[in-house]
Amino acid sequence: MFDIPMPRRFAIAALTCTFLCLAQKDPGVRGGPPGAGGPIPGLTPNELALFNEGIRRTTQLEAVCDTCSDMPLGGDTGENPNLATLTNSSGLGARFNGDQCSVCHQQPAIGGSGGFLVPNPQDPPARYRKPENPMFDLIPHRKGAQNYVPSFLTRYGPIREVRFQRNQDGTPDGGVHALFTIVGRSDIGAPGCTNAVLPPTDFETQYRKGNLSFRIPLQTFGLGLIEAIQDSTILSSSAATASARAALGIGGIPNRSGNDGTISRFGWKAQNKSIAIFAGEAYNVEMGVTNDVFPTARDETSACTQGVNEPNDITRTDPTDIRNQAFNNPLHMVADWLEFAIFIRELAPPQPVAFSPSALRGQQLFGTDPAHPGIGCFLCHTPTMVTGPRHETEALQSVPANLYSDLLVHHMGSGLADNITQGVAAGDMFRTTPLWGIGQRMFFLHDGRTNDLLVAIRAHASGGDPQGDSLAHGNSYPPSEANAVIQKFNALAAADKQAILDFLRSL
Ligand code: HEC
Ligand code: HEC
Repeated sequence: MFDIPMPRRFAIAALTCTFLCLAQKDPGVRGGPPGAGGPIPGLTPNELALFNEGIRRTTQLEAVCDTCSDMPLGGDTGENPNLATLTNSSGLGARFNGDQCSVCHQQPAIGGSGGFLVPNPQDPPARYRKPENPMFDLIPHRKGAQNYVPSFLTRYGPIREVRFQRNQDGTPDGGVHALFTIVGRSDIGAPGCTNAVLPPTDFETQYRKGNLSFRIPLQTFGLGLIEAIQDSTILSSSAATASARAALGIGGIPNRSGNDGTISRFGWKAQNKSIAIFAGEAYNVEMGVTNDVFPTARDETSACTQGVNEPNDITRTDPTDIRNQAFNNPLHMVADWLEFAIFIRELAPPQPVAFSPSALRGQQLFGTDPAHPGIGCFLCHTPTMVTGPRHETEALQSVPANLYSDLLVHHMGSGLADNITQGVAAGDMFRTTPLWGIGQRMFFLHDGRTNDLLVAIRAHASGGDPQGDSLAHGNSYPPSEANAVIQKFNALAAADKQAILDFLRSL
């Protein structure tokens, strides 16, 4: 690298600024208090006790074998959960993506989206390294594991979960493939769990072939409110903007649960019905911990599953905590996966900060209702829906949820398509991402392709490919439903674009 003398460097910076500083710029992750991570107001003492228990379970670190944890199962390690080194739970599967719920859900507080963590919490303070993507070093190498880290997991890039678009024989796959194995870890129940019996998956080759689709963690704040919105409210909110949407080419359909027919609303494609199902599924898909809801191990290689009972995390029945991974307290019998779900259901939505004049202008441009449509972002990102009038958790009754989502799935063009079908959500369809809390998110869009809000907004526009990009995937997608709105966005003056970015970073 050539060296530019200091004063010249300033001159060049000033010159660049006269051109670029006029342009709009994402102000970046908002500093200050998280405004998230606490319980919804108005919980009963019992509900609050379950919430607090839920935080402890969500931050527990999994060991592999049932008797190999560092602490008594369920014991309080006294550690900062984001710097955890001691395992106090067990059942980590032979293959996994993470070994703690909060390793992927901690930005800007426990329960959040994916963020950065100190990669070497076990080292003395003198060897402190600044926080980075936990999938780069922390997770793949914990407890002596020697996992190869594929090139799409970078030091300051997003946490990513990987789906394969197709199987080897060309038939559709679509499922999550776990990135890492337990080989080499010091807490395996029996010797003999080696790369030979548990071969690592060759993600690099699949990546080069274009067969991978990525998903980044979503935040879980406020999901109790989202779950408590009635189907009729989702449908009537959408109906209220039908003519304005039709004029701009915006559709939107609910994804539905295959058996009971009700609207599913969790996940990037609204593919999951409930918080409880997501929690049980995540425990098995991300961590390989089998449970009441997902009782079958994803990898049954016997040399690597010694000393682990399956299903591992089920409703406790023993009179003591010796075999159970339970906490020695009155909440003893509730399984981890259910505690995760209760915690998430009771997590308050992220709180916005006071709007600056620019952010207020941005809110108007974003649009609030058909009488104040702005450029029409609100036609998908519905600012508010109210939860149903009767809920077993009274604090969730008739609460306005300022989620900025219609909870429907939309065609987003070939530019965003991930070629994964889930329910009615085809390879080019995604749920309108709720924007509450976006002020403190680090990466955007389902695959985390950018950390710049402006890029995320522009990526909504995509022409589709009526001919199909049959070379790569044999898929054919219509143009993005957001094209007309993004055209209006692009036509805005720089100060107005800036206002929308300022509005989003206040949420
Ligand atoms: C390796 C990283 C990782 C770990 C560990 C992880 N998650 Fe997630 N989480 C994700 C990703 C990625 C998504 C988005 C998945 C999708 O939509 O396909 C997600 C989504 C979710 C959602 C849905 C949020 C929404 O807005 O719809 C919930 C609920 C959730 N996770 C709960 C959990 C729980 C509980 C645990 C611990 C058992 C956990 N997660 C562990 C990566 C992770
Ligand atoms: C046709 C419906 C639609 C319209 C109109 C729309 N969005 Fe979106 N928005 C989506 C969908 C769907 C996603 C998720 C896409 C993905 O992840 O691939 C999304 C994602 C986003 C994200 C990233 C969120 C995250 O956490 O990753 C931002 C920011 C955003 N939209 C802002 C806007 C703004 C600003 C406008 C108006 C200029 C707008 N959107 C208009 C449907 C829409």
